[in-house]
Amino acid sequence: MPVTDAQVLEALRPVQDPELHKSIVELGMVRRVSVEGARVTVEIALTVAGCPLKAEITERVTAALAPLGIDDVNVELSVMTDEERAGVKVAMGQGGGGHGAAPAAGGQRLGHEEGRPNPFNQPDSRTRILGISSGKGGVGKSSVTVNTAISLARLGHEVAVLDADVYGFSVPKMMGITQEPVVIDDMIVPPVAFGVKVISIGFFVEENQPVMWRGPMLHKALEQFLVDVYWGDLDYLLIDMPPGTGDVALSMAQYLPRSEIFVVTTPQAAAQRVAQRTAYMARKVNLPLRGVVENMAWFTGDDGKRYEIFGSGGGTALAETLGVPLVGQVPLLPALREGGDVGVPITVSDPLGEASRAFAKVAAAMADMGPGRVFRPELKVN
Ligand SMILES: Nc1ncnc2c1ncn2[C@@H]1O[C@H](COP(=O)(O)OP(=O)(O)OP(=O)(O)O)[C@@H](O)[C@H]1O
Ligand SMILES: [Mg+2]
Repeated sequence: MPVTDAQVLEALRPVQDPELHKSIVELGMVRRVSVEGARVTVEIALTVAGCPLKAEITERVTAALAPLGIDDVNVELSVMTDEERAGVKVAMGQGGGGHGAAPAAGGQRLGHEEGRPNPFNQPDSRTRILGISSGKGGVGKSSVTVNTAISLARLGHEVAVLDADVYGFSVPKMMGITQEPVVIDDMIVPPVAFGVKVISIGFFVEENQPVMWRGPMLHKALEQFLVDVYWGDLDYLLIDMPPGTGDVALSMAQYLPRSEIFVVTTPQAAAQRVAQRTAYMARKVNLPLRGVVENMAWFTGDDGKRYEIFGSGGGTALAETLGVPLVGQVPLLPALREGGDVGVPITVSDPLGEASRAFAKVAAAMADMGPGRVFRPELKVN
């Protein structure tokens, strides 16, 4: 018995667009279905011309129809019209009013200049914003951000990472992301890796080109990310903050007043002192400091003994000085660095290993402590 158009459409419903991660039927990408004997033609309208994942979509459509006994599938690809693209934004929950959220109460202008609201400042937003900072480079801020994010996602949370380290955006490389974000009009759809959405300043600047960021530019870029990126309904947004001047911390204080700051340090005293400066800076801009992560805490040798290569006690001492908990200690592990270099984080390549267990603890500690501040718009002093 030949199949009907409706049956074909139903079979296509579970097929997700590889970039937008939503049903191609719901996104309005299936323009036409026609059944002629044993041959089925499906016309798919791509969101943008030259979509790099054409082959992937064709493959998914063909595979979805196999259970109906259809093996002669002809997938025709075309490109969406402006109206169809507008429909995609609506299907993503981002049409018209932006993010489907009402404008902020009390005339707050924390959103875009056109008045689009910043979704993270809506009173009903459940997203916790975790800023990962450090006093100096190279202590493992990005490694901690990436692996903690993956661990949080593994606990069943919706998680995104915003790589705001303008001096050394490394998150896309660490997570093996080669796919650019999809831009549909003014909506930026982030790539997803290991269950985590990722947006990096690195996606928007040319590789190997020097970028001279001044505070105001950075401020604008951050604002655009917060407002224009399709984040969905997140439990956690982790921000890989650049070390140094505090421009990003200032912007976060303004755009994301509910941000919580975690400081990464290594065990030696010198690192701890630098980390302390960052912590004080966070306090200066009135962002709550929530905890300390000690990275490169020890190296476990083949003999099973722990070697404290960078000394010991730095994380504990810093946490005590700052009056916050030490949320975790991550060991030094060559495989952790290798994972970052090849784009498969250690929490993915060795989920039960020593480092992954440490990151799972960090993630659980962050989740368990709950949000630091409850946002009470009625108490906002203008
Ligand atoms: N626990 C660890 N064990 C082994 N290598 C590590 C560990 N943590 C970080 N590294 C490695 O150390 C280097 C610096 O780490 P990472 O890039 O995460 O630090 P960062 O603070 O973000 O640095 P930057 O200031 O350059 O952004 C990387 O090569 C990383 O793979
Ligand atoms: Mg980094």
